[in-house]
Amino acid sequence: MNSPAHGRLIDGKAIAAQVLAEVREDVAELRAQGLQPALAVVLVGEDPASQVYVRNKVLRAEEAGIRSIEHRLPAQTEQATLLALIERLNDDAEVHGILVQLPLPPHIDENPVLQAIDPAKDVDGFHSDNVGGLSQGRAVLTPCTPAGCLRLLKQTCGELAGKHAVVIGRSNIVGKPMAALLLQADCTVTVVHSRSHDAAALCRQADIVVAAVGRPRMIDASWLKPGAVVIDVGINRIEEHGRTRLVGDVDFASALPLVSAITPVPGGVGPMTIAMLMHNTVSAARQQHISHVAQAAATETACPTTC
Ligand code: GUN
Repeated sequence: MNSPAHGRLIDGKAIAAQVLAEVREDVAELRAQGLQPALAVVLVGEDPASQVYVRNKVLRAEEAGIRSIEHRLPAQTEQATLLALIERLNDDAEVHGILVQLPLPPHIDENPVLQAIDPAKDVDGFHSDNVGGLSQGRAVLTPCTPAGCLRLLKQTCGELAGKHAVVIGRSNIVGKPMAALLLQADCTVTVVHSRSHDAAALCRQADIVVAAVGRPRMIDASWLKPGAVVIDVGINRIEEHGRTRLVGDVDFASALPLVSAITPVPGGVGPMTIAMLMHNTVSAARQQHISHVAQAAATETACPTTC
């Protein structure tokens, strides 16, 4: 009996491993020039999911040859203390990337904290300078999850120009930057959100679907055009048949027979986020090194050591 035709899996673990191998090569090259890339990770409080994410980020950094500096602050830390730490990290020439794990405890206002990070060290791409740069199509540090989704799409589809991409969700971390990246890749982009009329009908027009809503299995086969490529950003913990499972925003079992390719959860987008963080850290280190060398040369021209 023939097995039923169905879409192929997009192997996020394998593609993340390729990205990390590229990062390791870049790190080796920078170290040979006397530059040790370093990433500072700041965690405020004891949120269990954030602790796991931070641990994984630190581990992956070390595997890639990136020095990681962990700052764990108690949940009751005052905003001013966190801002002072960020200022110190901004001023430290041996730190190239700064990541403040979100969410922050409710008494801390996220926006001034993210704005306090030097945009050149903002490896999350959340500072307004980087957000603005992305929307203008300038080369800046871009948010890691959407950058990872774009890499998966490029490796899966090849050329993206002219494809109709529907992004479901409009968060600052995923939906909005994802739409900007797809637009930069010359896709026709629709952003569907909680107030959209007939979201399923809009989604059925898509060649590419990026689902980032945080609702387990919300998007089933009735939302999808046959042959669509689906990137599922959701990581939702549910109780099913007496055990805890991780599922995406897409109903994987109903989508798989219809689509041409789809990311699994887990093992799809998740590994890409950390890989792109390492990629951003190396880019930030290289860019800061180039700026320092240029500054030193300008100073030398203005006032030669012989003068
Ligand atoms: N919390 C969930 N996702 C992210 C992310 O991409 N960056 C940071 N800093 N915190 C997060």
